[in-house]
Amino acid sequence: MQDQTIEEERQGEATMVEHASEHLNGKKLYLESYGCQMNFSDSEIVASIMGGAGYETTRNIDEADVVLLNTCAIRDNAEQRVRNRLTQFQHQKENNPDKVIGILGCMAERLKSQLLEEEKLVDLVAGPDAYRDLPNLVTEVESGQKAVNVLLSREETYADISPVRLDSNGVSAFISIMRGCDNMCSFCVVPFTRGRERSRSAETIVQEAQDLVNKGYREVTLLGQNVDSYRWNINRKGEPTDETKETVNFAQLLEKVALVDPRLRIRFSTSHPKDMTDEVLEVMARYENICEYIHLPVQSGNSDVLERMNRGYSREWYLNRIASIRKHMPEAGISTDVISGFCQETEAEHKDTLSLMQEVKFDFAYMFYYSERPKTLAARKFEDSVPLEEKKRRLSEIIELQQQHSLESNKRSVGKTFKVLVEGNSKRSDEHQCGRNSQNVMAVFPKLNHVPGDYVNVRINDCTAATLIGEIVED
Ligand code: SAH
Ligand code: SF4
Ligand code: F3S
Repeated sequence: MQDQTIEEERQGEATMVEHASEHLNGKKLYLESYGCQMNFSDSEIVASIMGGAGYETTRNIDEADVVLLNTCAIRDNAEQRVRNRLTQFQHQKENNPDKVIGILGCMAERLKSQLLEEEKLVDLVAGPDAYRDLPNLVTEVESGQKAVNVLLSREETYADISPVRLDSNGVSAFISIMRGCDNMCSFCVVPFTRGRERSRSAETIVQEAQDLVNKGYREVTLLGQNVDSYRWNINRKGEPTDETKETVNFAQLLEKVALVDPRLRIRFSTSHPKDMTDEVLEVMARYENICEYIHLPVQSGNSDVLERMNRGYSREWYLNRIASIRKHMPEAGISTDVISGFCQETEAEHKDTLSLMQEVKFDFAYMFYYSERPKTLAARKFEDSVPLEEKKRRLSEIIELQQQHSLESNKRSVGKTFKVLVEGNSKRSDEHQCGRNSQNVMAVFPKLNHVPGDYVNVRINDCTAATLIGEIVED
């Protein structure tokens, strides 16, 4: 059993994982994912690795031999949800004591062996960089041992593993381009759960995009905690690591993926305001198939709060980045993340968040109240001083304002025509299809003779705060 967190070098350990159906062992894997897109993308890597060991994925937990929960630790309530789910799983165990129950992802990394040894809720624990070890860990459990691997790596990118697309609509897919995060925002647990930042080779990213196009996919989202700091063959000083090889930054990577096929749309997440360059915006504006949509988390509209958050930018800097996006792409969709009630946030500082929102008028936002995470800089340095009720009140003001802005944004789209990628039938009716425009807003329209993966022009006639409602028109 390994349960240390020292960082491990994994050079030369790459093994090609074959496809699941090639040698099934008759056993079934049930996977459930929580948290961010990166976690959902990781689950596809897990399915591939377990497929290589003969496991077939199932949606029916009752027939599964191995149950894995890929978890999130970003806020306390994310962890509570997982604990509730693990408690429910105890019944599964009572009915079938041989069933292996494991926890993966960020909560596994944060709590290490606690859920196994002290709380006895799981049989297996694997952190985000330990997934190649999963088949061994399952075998260890089957032979009656405790199985924990929470080693973080400086190298692991799973670059050679071909993800098994789970719950896919056959049109959109994630491509993970980097792992970990070196930023140390003071509220954030991710650097502790996902380790050091490392980029995946540009060549394997382009190859994965090409494979997806060949399989009929028409949209990829490039994933990283801070995509703007993607660098391949570039060291910390900005010099090539290997003089004889090509260097690739994020703008150059975007261009490479855009050139794979004009029918393939490119999205990416997440950009960081301190690192987002005009070079990236120029590439976005230049290629029609790179979507005009940026998710740029602001967190707070007050420079002192941003300083305490260790975000590395001020309110003015953020507004300058927004101005630059609008200069390069006047029609771009912009969304953000906001945290209310961070340590020592005053009412005036909260009002600055509202005023920044008024100034930018985001098209969409994810909004949270601050949840203190153990070990983070904020937990060590600042008192979590804003009472919960106050955090919630501030959050509700933020949400209410954003609702207005989202509705206004969608209303501005009424009367316009957008190129939409058909994703499938709408949730509410088989007579309707749905798909997103370049700005990432979902449109619903009556079905004609188009299939998922087709591009259609949709004229917008009506909207809600979340959805555009329209009809297909000729070019
Ligand atoms: N890498 C991304 C965000 C990852 S976490 C970035 O830098 O923007 C997603 C969002 O969760 C964050 O943007 C933040 O708004 C929120 N978040 C992170 N830690 C949090 C905490 N301790 N309490 C409340 N919200 C938090
Ligand atoms: Fe967390 Fe900041 Fe890294 Fe995002 S950039 S994952 S918020 S530390
Ligand atoms: Fe959660 Fe980990 Fe993602 S903490 S938000 S699953 S990186």
